[in-house]
Amino acid sequence: MRAFEIQGSFGLQNLVLVDKPDLAPGPGQVLLKLRAASLNYRDLLMIQGKYNPRQPLPLVPLSDGVGEVLAVGDGVTRVAPGDRVAGIFAQAWLDGAPTREALKSTLGGPRGGMLAEQVVLSQDGVVRVPAHLSDVEAATLPCAALTAWRGLVEQGAVKPGETVLVQGTGGVSIFALQFAVLAGARVIVTSSDDQKLERARGLGAWQTINYRTTPAWGKRALELTEGKGVDHVIEVGGTGTLAQSMAAVRPGGHISVIGILAGASAEVNLLPILMQNLRVLGVVVGNRANFEAMNRAIEASALMPVLDRVFPWTDAREALEHLASGRHFGKVCLQF
Ligand SMILES: NC(=O)c1ccc[n+]([C@@H]2O[C@H](COP(=O)([O-])OP(=O)(O)OC[C@H]3O[C@@H](n4cnc5c(N)ncnc54)[C@H](OP(=O)(O)O)[C@@H]3O)[C@@H](O)[C@H]2O)c1
Repeated sequence: MRAFEIQGSFGLQNLVLVDKPDLAPGPGQVLLKLRAASLNYRDLLMIQGKYNPRQPLPLVPLSDGVGEVLAVGDGVTRVAPGDRVAGIFAQAWLDGAPTREALKSTLGGPRGGMLAEQVVLSQDGVVRVPAHLSDVEAATLPCAALTAWRGLVEQGAVKPGETVLVQGTGGVSIFALQFAVLAGARVIVTSSDDQKLERARGLGAWQTINYRTTPAWGKRALELTEGKGVDHVIEVGGTGTLAQSMAAVRPGGHISVIGILAGASAEVNLLPILMQNLRVLGVVVGNRANFEAMNRAIEASALMPVLDRVFPWTDAREALEHLASGRHFGKVCLQF
C-alpha cells in the first residue's frame, strides 16, 4: 500500500509518497481501505511543523478519512467488513470531558493519520457515517463539522431565534453556519471576500459583513442586532479577532474559542469578559458520542457538507497548497 509521510524535517516539500507493507488488524482492531479524506488547517500546521515542532517523524498526516472496513480482528463487534466508517479525531476520547491521555490520541499527529491507502484503528475509534453522504462528503465530518457541532450545539446549546456570528468561510465556519440555520438561529457571517459572502447568503446567512472593508465588524454586528449583541460567536481568528468578538457578543453571551488563524497569543483585555459575564469556552473537536449525535442530526435533516474542491489523493500537496491559499469556501477534499 502507499501512504504520504512527512520525512526528515517539516515542510510541504518533505511530504512524500512511499510504499509500505500491507496492514492486518490485531485483536479489537479494524483494517480500513481509505476512500476519501479531507483537509483541515491543523494538517497544514502539522506538516509545516507549527502545530507540534516536537512531533516525531516520519508521520502520516491528516486526521479526517472515510474508508471501507476490509477486515476485522478477533473480538470486533462494533463494525463488520463492508461497513463505511470514519476515524474519530481523538481515538481514545469516547465520551464525557477530555482527558490528557485522550488528547494525545489524535490522528495525523501524534498518531499516524489518514493520508494512506490503508489504516488500522481500534474498533472504538471509528463511527459509521450518514448513508446519504458520498465518501468525500462524509470525510468532511470528523474534525471541522464536529468542532462546529460541539462549539455551537453541545457547549453553546444554541436555540431557535438566537443570533450566531460565524467568522470566515472555511471548513469549521461553514458547518457552524449550517448547524446554526438547522437550529433556527439567525446567522451573521464575516468574510474577506464579497463573493463568498454571497454564497453564505445562499446557505441561509441572515446578514454578512466583509471584515476587510469593515474592520470594526463587532460594532457592525451590534448595530445589526439593534444594540443587543449576538448570542454566540464562532471564533476562528484567535487573538487577532477576539476583541471584535467581545464587541459583538451580548452580555452573558458565548464565544466559542476554536481557531488561531489570526494569532494564538497576545495581550487580552479581560474586562469585557468579567464586566459582561461572557462565556469564553475552548473547543477541542469533540468525542465519539458527540460525533454520533451530530451524525443523527445530519441524517435527520439531510444536511449536505459544502465541498470546495476534490483532488485525487496523490495530489495531496497541491490540495494542501490550495487550502493554504485561503481561496476555498467550505471543505477541500481528497478522493482515493
Ligand atoms: N479547536 C479545535 O478543535 C479546532 C478544530 C478545527 C479547526 N480549528 C482551528 O480553527 C481554524 C479554522 O480551521 P478550518 O479548518 O476551518 O480552516 P480553513 O478552512 O482553512 O479556514 C480558512 C478561512 O478562515 C477565514 N479567516 C482567516 N483569517 C480570518 C480572520 N482574521 N477573520 C475571520 N476569518 C478568517 C478565511 O475566510 P474568508 O476567506 O471567508 O475570509 C479563510 O478562508 C484554524 O485555526 C484551525 O486550526 C480548531
